[in-house]
Amino acid sequence: MNNIKCQRIESDDVLKDCAEVLVKAYNSEPWNDNWTKEKALEKLECFYNSPRFIGLMVWEEDSLVGCCIGNIEPYYMGDYYYVKEMFVSPEYQNKGIGRKLMESIKKELNEINIKTIILFTGKDFFPYRFYLKSGFSEMEEMRMMSFGETE
Ligand SMILES: CC(C)(COP(=O)(O)OP(=O)(O)OC[C@H]1O[C@@H](n2cnc3c(N)ncnc32)[C@H](O)[C@@H]1OP(=O)(O)O)[C@@H](O)C(=O)NCCC(=O)NCCS
Repeated sequence: MNNIKCQRIESDDVLKDCAEVLVKAYNSEPWNDNWTKEKALEKLECFYNSPRFIGLMVWEEDSLVGCCIGNIEPYYMGDYYYVKEMFVSPEYQNKGIGRKLMESIKKELNEINIKTIILFTGKDFFPYRFYLKSGFSEMEEMRMMSFGETE
């Protein structure tokens, strides 16, 4: 692909564009969610405004095509980066953009001595395989839990 560049999200001006990509990515396979642009923007603003936010975005020419959104969280064994959302526009998926985002965030984190990344994902779909291929492993001892409606 031509002219791909990966940059830090340094201003909330781009969050609207990021929200549009989020909506396209999660309203498609495998999740088929029902995000609206407004709710997606609210979610991204929530992370952007949290302490120690780090977000990356990938541009192809002048189109925003993918993002990695998260925060650094304190932990007694060493702070970690928590990926809250990672998404690539469906028409750009499976072309190496996710890999580029992942390599870039690992590099950024390495520079500030953050050694650990955590995230949650569904176990039955290709994003799970994407993370395995990116070097992640399952935390067998952990279970994600909820109370009340999630579906
Ligand atoms: C998961 C996601 C971020 C990966 O980004 P991407 O740009 O598609 O990933 P890449 O092209 O870098 O692919 C890397 C690997 O992931 C796997 N992969 C990616 N997309 C795939 C697809 N549609 N079907 C099967 N495997 C896929 C491939 O195994 C690929 O490795 P390979 O090139 O060696 O075969 C992206 O597909 C996405 O946004 N999905 C929808 C939103 C989502 O599920 N986000 C994660 C939620 S936790």
